[in-house]
Amino acid sequence: MSYLKFFSLAAPMALALLVTPAQAQTTPTEQMTGYVAQAGQPAQAARGQEFFTAKHGKEWSCSTCHTSKPTVDGKHATTGKVIAPMAPAFNPQRFTDAAKTEKWFRRNCNDVVGRECTAGEKADFLSWLLTLKS
Ligand code: HEC
Repeated sequence: MSYLKFFSLAAPMALALLVTPAQAQTTPTEQMTGYVAQAGQPAQAARGQEFFTAKHGKEWSCSTCHTSKPTVDGKHATTGKVIAPMAPAFNPQRFTDAAKTEKWFRRNCNDVVGRECTAGEKADFLSWLLTLKS
């Protein structure tokens, strides 16, 4: 194998190794942009707030655990464990790990709505959180 050929194969592979761990890191705005693109419609913060505080035919709303103020600590409805604020301006770790975000959307939407949240619902919710500034 010529040096050039080897390099043309090895370089992208080395780059992929370097880049992969960084891709797990994201930002709240980046995630919201992704949900908006998936939904194919603009996000509406007011609709996100309504979704978060309303019940959807089950015992809990999102605000049961997260409170209706995403700027303060919440408390888990069954375990009583403290849940850090949801709004990124009050908790910089929020929505910086797409796998974590998706995992909790899946679990919590199933508990509250009885199904996964749609991309539009996620976009609305996140856009509301991003309007809350410290
Ligand atoms: C039974 C309690 C409970 C309810 C109800 C609940 N959550 Fe959560 N939520 C949690 C816990 C616990 C975590 C993980 C701990 C943490 O991240 O602080 C979490 C984390 C999240 C995250 C992860 C955010 C991130 O850091 O990326 C999102 C998004 C989320 N919840 C959205 C919702 C939405 C939307 C609803 C309503 C459909 C909801 N939650 C209802 C308990 C709850």
